[in-house]
Amino acid sequence: MITLTAHPVAPLLANLLAEAASASPLASPAIAALSDEDRARMMRSKTEYIDFYGRLKDFPLAVSSETGTLLYMLARSCRAKTIVEFGTSFGISTLYLASALRDNGGGRLISSEFEPSKIARARHNLTIGGLIDLVEIREGDALKTLGADLPETIDLLLLDGAKALYPEVLALVENRLGPGAFIVADNANDSAEYLTYVRSPANGYLSIPVGDDVELSMRTE
Ligand SMILES: C[S@@+](CC[C@H](N)C(=O)[O-])C[C@H]1O[C@@H](n2cnc3c(N)ncnc32)[C@H](O)[C@@H]1O
Repeated sequence: MITLTAHPVAPLLANLLAEAASASPLASPAIAALSDEDRARMMRSKTEYIDFYGRLKDFPLAVSSETGTLLYMLARSCRAKTIVEFGTSFGISTLYLASALRDNGGGRLISSEFEPSKIARARHNLTIGGLIDLVEIREGDALKTLGADLPETIDLLLLDGAKALYPEVLALVENRLGPGAFIVADNANDSAEYLTYVRSPANGYLSIPVGDDVELSMRTE
């Protein structure tokens, strides 16, 4: 039995995903108050993301179960030992990734989140899942917290924070991604700049869309 499909992670994820499915961000008065235009602009902004995600601090905004399973499979198949995550939220994607590390024999997952209440919920979930020992959640803006003290090599990067910052966060870790390292970018369609970058082979990636939400890239050099 693998960690992902065994107790306690499997029932925990089932509960968290059910909760996430029933928590539409549009139900938030702070989001509903925005026009469609303002919402779209803030979601793609390099300067308004703190305000935007502050309005969403009570929402999990989690990856789908399919994307979570993809994360688990990729981390297992590249035998990941070191993973970096941009955007922890309640720790749902973190549970998938940490499960893979456990089944790879251990490792280190550095995650990043600026909402303190979300970090507390993520730590709680990872503790219940028995995976907290593998995870360090860095509190604050990832542009700062992921800018120092990273492992020599990073095997997998999940981009799932403010979409406009995907190029900047990738730049912070890029020199630690060796050939074969994976990058999973959720909702990458909201960052045209990111897609242009990873889809240009000269930048050292192979990159494909997977389903509607995900851009999967592999470092080639
Ligand atoms: C889509 S949610 C992450 C969902 C999570 N990966 C999951 O699947 O469970 C994005 C999260 O990133 C956080 N975030 C956005 N920009 C950030 C930044 N610059 N630094 C740290 N956290 C950020 C938000 O507060 C939000 O909780």
